[in-house]
Amino acid sequence: MSLRNIYYSLSPELRLAVRKLYYLPHDLLQQLSGKRSELQPGKGDIYIGSGDFLSQGKKQVQTLTDHIDLKESDVVLDIGCGIGRTALPLTKILTTGRYEGFDVVKKGVDWCKRHISINYPNFHFTFVSLHNDLYNNFKAKGEEFSFPYPDSTFDKIFLFSVFTHMRIEEIQHYLTEIKRVLKPEGKCLATFFLYDQDFASKEPDDGFSFPYEYPAGYRLMSKKVQSANIAISLDLLNRMMDTAGLQIEKIEFGYWNGKIAKDIALNFQDTVIIKSK
Ligand SMILES: C[S@@+](CC[C@H](N)C(=O)[O-])C[C@H]1O[C@@H](n2cnc3c(N)ncnc32)[C@H](O)[C@@H]1O
Repeated sequence: MSLRNIYYSLSPELRLAVRKLYYLPHDLLQQLSGKRSELQPGKGDIYIGSGDFLSQGKKQVQTLTDHIDLKESDVVLDIGCGIGRTALPLTKILTTGRYEGFDVVKKGVDWCKRHISINYPNFHFTFVSLHNDLYNNFKAKGEEFSFPYPDSTFDKIFLFSVFTHMRIEEIQHYLTEIKRVLKPEGKCLATFFLYDQDFASKEPDDGFSFPYEYPAGYRLMSKKVQSANIAISLDLLNRMMDTAGLQIEKIEFGYWNGKIAKDIALNFQDTVIIKSK
């Protein structure tokens, strides 16, 4: 059994607790030696993935600036804002605009309120108690959730590594909500794992793989934890966009499936620029 599968066999609460415990000595040491700034969560609290928290966040903001022309006066929505990885560096750019972020993990949203909103009152974070079997045990379903914002509110909407952790029904519904709250000329940037007909998955225990294929046009990494990671066929994604009244403007393929070399890819995941039809 791979380490990843052992991790998935734990409950969502245990996953968070194990991470916290594992990094406790490291985090304590950093805190005592003053090596970690106030504005950076401890490694044990960063539940949103590996990689360097600060440099990843800066890279995400650069991607927004380069690919959807993020401006200081934009009103933006960060869906699945996590523990502020994108919001933190965004505070330096979004000086006259407004930021809204929401997420289904309270601990991340609380950290953002305590460390970001307190210094940047134009940055608002909202916790929503929706089920996600990777992160929590809540009951309410994402496909029944209306975003708490009026129609045509946002210039820019982004989701970094969020549609890679949601069920297909939720993604379809979120796309419809994105269409509703995005201004007609607005842009959305979202990352996915996308595949086409020639895709051949590795075996379940062979590292990063999507062995479980579903006829609707998607693949899962784990049957047990359905939101662990999802890959979507390009064909299905196009149909979902169409149903939501959206269209793909551009795709920057990532290096996750080995088709594009790491040094020339924009990101590990595939980055999709979306606009209204
Ligand atoms: C891999 S993390 C990425 C977090 C953040 N976007 C970043 O780049 O740091 C995925 C995030 O999606 C959130 N998420 C999962 N399902 C969600 C849903 N239905 N609505 C909003 N956020 C969700 C998780 O709680 C988690 O914070």
